[in-house]
Amino acid sequence: MITTRWANPTTLTRLLLLLTLCAARWSVAATGASDPDTPWGRDYFPNTALVNQDGQTVHFFDDLIKDKVVAINFIFTSCTDSCPLETARLRQVQKILGDRVGSDVFLYSISIDPETDTPAVLKQYTEKFKVGPGWQFLTGNKDDITELRKSLGLFIEGVDNGRNKDHNLSLIIGNQGTGRWMKASPMENPYILADRLGKSLQNWKLASTSQHDYADAPTLRTPSAGEQIYRTRCSSCHTLGDTEHAGLRSIGPDLLGVTRQRDPVWLTRWIKEPDRMLAEKDPLAMQLYEQYNRLAMPNLRLGEIEISALLTYLEEETNRLQPLAPVAHEAHGELHNPDR
Ligand code: HEC
Repeated sequence: MITTRWANPTTLTRLLLLLTLCAARWSVAATGASDPDTPWGRDYFPNTALVNQDGQTVHFFDDLIKDKVVAINFIFTSCTDSCPLETARLRQVQKILGDRVGSDVFLYSISIDPETDTPAVLKQYTEKFKVGPGWQFLTGNKDDITELRKSLGLFIEGVDNGRNKDHNLSLIIGNQGTGRWMKASPMENPYILADRLGKSLQNWKLASTSQHDYADAPTLRTPSAGEQIYRTRCSSCHTLGDTEHAGLRSIGPDLLGVTRQRDPVWLTRWIKEPDRMLAEKDPLAMQLYEQYNRLAMPNLRLGEIEISALLTYLEEETNRLQPLAPVAHEAHGELHNPDR
């Protein structure tokens, strides 16, 4: 049966044709050259005029994405929840990619609140986040920006034009030249995002510098629920004892020991609604805010169970890295000494 099928000339011709097509596509992809057949070319994307944080006018297709590997997200600077998380994540990606950002990888954050986010406001935002060169923050005409979001598949009718400026929490990364685009989550590991932008979307034209073998990979333990929340929502801005990586996420304070240092009620509320505590001018919150470049910790919309799992993780990690000295017998005795 199988032999006759293979021998079927039409199937064979089809198969050959398919192989030839694949090979043609592969050769385009392998050289990293533009694929003239990409449906997402000049005819598809609007060439929207936008202004960057330095006041320069640029055009979306011609200046920002044409033949480039890019990461694009939509933000607004007064956003107190998802945007700071995205910005912090992209900032890590930028640090990992180093000076390739602005040379063969381009990062763009476009404001969906262009009336408020003037170039000067965007400039201030980049300073707060200590954003390095090669990453543009852009503003423009609101309707044009909405069109742009639609063309990138980052606009959901009813959700994205709702009252709360609620917007699609996603990032799109792609290579305009090859027509390869994918949505990415800002909660993703920054090294994976950097790898996609720096290697796979560049069609692997740069050899991997990694000399590691899978055989050397350590056995992974399954992270606890708290650790997973920490890694996806907090680690883009905070360290937890691992301060040697501080450069990647030195936005907020190191959290090692914070469960010992702070009142649990204060801590729980702070993680739940830092924006409200800042609005109420809670003294400790205000002090930290001033200390950390007036960059507000975002409200990450976590529930009680998530916060409690998170606090357990922070506490366990603190105990692991800074074990409490065992209570000495004498000290114990002293504590119970009725004469004291
Ligand atoms: C976008 C960056 C960012 C993210 C994401 C973030 N934080 Fe923060 N965090 C800050 C900043 C900045 C401060 C300092 C206070 C301020 O400026 O509002 C802070 C302060 C804190 C503090 C107070 C530290 C102290 O000394 O009392 C705690 C606790 C904290 N964050 C926990 C978390 C946890 C838990 C998460 C994840 C669920 C998280 N943060 C996510 C930026 C961030």
